[in-house]
Parts: sequence; C-alpha cells; structure tokens
Amino acid sequence: MPIRDIFDKPFDDGTIVKLEIFQKYFEEWLPVFVMSRNPKPIQVFDLFAGSGYDQNHVPGSPIRTLEVIAKHRRILAQKKKQVFVFLNDADSQKIEQLRINIEQKVKDLSIQSMVVTQFSARDFRDSVLNDHTKELKSGNNLIFIDQNGFKEVNEQLFQFLMSLDTTDFIFFVSSSYVHRFPDEPEVRRHHPRFDFDKIKNTSWKKVHNVVCDEFRRYVPSNVKRYWIIPFSIMKPDMVNIYGLIAVTKHPLGADKFLNAAWKENALNGNANFDIEEEEKKKQGDFFKPRTLTKIESFQLMLQELILKRNIKNNSDAYYLTLDEGHIGKHANEKIMEMKRDKLITFDSPSSLVNYKKVEKEKRIIEYKLVKK
Ligand SMILES: C[S@@+](CC[C@H](N)C(=O)[O-])C[C@H]1O[C@@H](n2cnc3c(N)ncnc32)[C@H](O)[C@@H]1O
Repeated sequence: MPIRDIFDKPFDDGTIVKLEIFQKYFEEWLPVFVMSRNPKPIQVFDLFAGSGYDQNHVPGSPIRTLEVIAKHRRILAQKKKQVFVFLNDADSQKIEQLRINIEQKVKDLSIQSMVVTQFSARDFRDSVLNDHTKELKSGNNLIFIDQNGFKEVNEQLFQFLMSLDTTDFIFFVSSSYVHRFPDEPEVRRHHPRFDFDKIKNTSWKKVHNVVCDEFRRYVPSNVKRYWIIPFSIMKPDMVNIYGLIAVTKHPLGADKFLNAAWKENALNGNANFDIEEEEKKKQGDFFKPRTLTKIESFQLMLQELILKRNIKNNSDAYYLTLDEGHIGKHANEKIMEMKRDKLITFDSPSSLVNYKKVEKEKRIIEYKLVKK
C-alpha cells in the first residue's frame, strides 16, 4: 500500500489542471526523444517532487511521470532506451515516502528495466546549480519546477537553464500574489529588472501572461529562437490566478507544449478558464457585430499575412502559428479554406503546417496568390 502523505491536503481542481498539463506535455515530449537518434540520456528532473500522492491517493507529478513512461513501454523496449528520473524535495520525510511510493509503482507497472530513479532531499537551487549540473549538461532534459517559480527562477537560474542544450523547463508562478504585492521589497528583490508597474496595471485575469512576458528580459542575446509560453490557472476560489510557464529553444518543444495546452482547453489553449471572454464574444450583442474568438482572430491575421505575401510558405505559417501560441490545425483550416475559395493555390492536398514537413523532411511549399 502506498504511504499517504500526512502533511498534504487533497489537490484542488487547479492543481489537477497543472498536473495534467505537465503529464500531457511529458506524454508528447517523451516519444520525441525515444525515437530520436540523439544518444544523450533522456532525463526528467522533478525538483519539487512531493511525496507521490495527495491525501486521497490522487497521483502527483512523480507518479504521473511513471505512468507516462509505462504508456511508452513498447517504443522504449524497441529502442532499448531508459528514462532517468531525478526526484528532489527539500523535505527529507517526503522523499522517504516518495521513495517507497515510487518503488511500489515501478513494480506495479513492471517498468523496472526502463526507468532509473534517483532521490535527493536538497534545496532546489543546490540541486540545479551544484548537484546535477553534470547530468543537466549532458542529457535531453525536461525539468519541472512545481513551487514558487517567481522566487526560485531568478535571472541567474533562468539563464543557466536556458544555456543548457536540448532542455525544456516548466515552472510554476503564483501570479496573483505578484499582482497583489508588486511594491513589496520582498517581491521586487527577486526580479529587479521586471516592470512591476506593468504587472500592477494589468487586469487580474491576464496577470500570468504579463508576468510570463517579463521573463523574456532574461533571454541571453545569443539565443535567437525560443518560446516562453504561459498557461494560466484560476483557483477554485475564482479569485487567485497562478500558472505554468514553459520555456524551450526547440520548435518541437513549443509545438508539443501548445498541443498539450490546447488539449487542456480547446477554447483558448492558454488557461483553464475563459481568459479572453470568448463565450461572451460567441453570443455577441444584438446591436453590435460579433467579435472574433481567439482562433478566428489568429486565422484572420494569417489570411491577411498570406495575402500581403508576408507569409509565403508552410514554414512561415508554421513559425507564425507557434509564435502566436496556436497549433497547426488552426492554420491548416484557414489555409485550406483560402484554397477552396480560390484565393491561393499550392502544390499539396494539405497545407503542411507541421514540424515533420517543415523541419524534418524540409518539404517547403509556396502559397501562391491567385490572380483575379
Ligand atoms: C507543490 S508541492 C509539489 C507537488 C508535487 N509536484 C506533486 O505533484 O505532488 C511543492 C514541494 O516543494 C517542496 N519544497 C519547498 N521548498 C523547496 C525548496 N527550496 N527546494 C526543494 N523543495 C522544496 C515542498 O516540500 C513540497 O513538497
């Protein structure tokens, strides 16, 4: 029987959303590295790991990590690969409970041959900046920072993580707290370069997006291509907003995170609530024309850019899609509609706005305007 964490409460709905996003992302992320020829070890760093379950035996991130590994057992066995899972929590009692829970789960799932676990009870920063630097510099890494990211992920840490190759990281931020106390020295001191007036003046619903944007200041100038993607989560109290921020330098990392996010919420792909007030927009107002939804606005923008020749091919369309926080399906729908409406023509039955065609196969097709 897994041991219960006597210190923890049941996870609330917002926590479940957070864990689902992590799990869905890992589910998309893992097969990329299992199938890749890249020989570096596949590593997951869950550095605020907790004890494994909440009070009601709902699985936390480390148990979910094992469940995803088990789901991909066939390809892991076929490619003879293992996943190295580093589990850390500052609380040594939690780590002892976690060790027992993980050993049991590994047995239950029969994944002993495909997972290697390592436990530590260290402060997060020591764990990253001292204990695991060697592994971090030599692996394909997914790092989950599930606590207090505003305090822990300061400029130095953000830049260290960004300097790592083939590394994606996700961190948690209590954005409402920053919104409520932007002038507190205790808040400001973690990020002296942030524009706290901007954070202060934003609407409470959008605060996590604005906090996320502030982290862009930390991107080193030599990093040319990167994505920093927010996902806002409203707590069940309907007052507090927190969220995840995903950081990646690889288009496939962004692509996979956005897929997970749009799976979580097909309305906006970046919150567990109606952050853009789309339901209202859909209904419209009797006297006013209906305003566009987030997907429709993106599709209209894409159409205009294609007609202006700013977007000339599927590669341009793919990168616009990622940069605007959308998925290939949204772009494809519009481009196919433009083809049906005889606004453009191209040499393929579909728009090829996806990673496989653009980056892997380098199959670039031009969208030509139809002369009227
Ligand atoms: C929100 S819980 C993590 C929950 C876990 N991801 C799960 O899904 O069950 C945050 C954890 O961070 C740990 N923690 C707090 N401060 C820490 C620090 N500075 N370094 C490492 N762990 C810390 C706490 O003991 C707690 O278990």
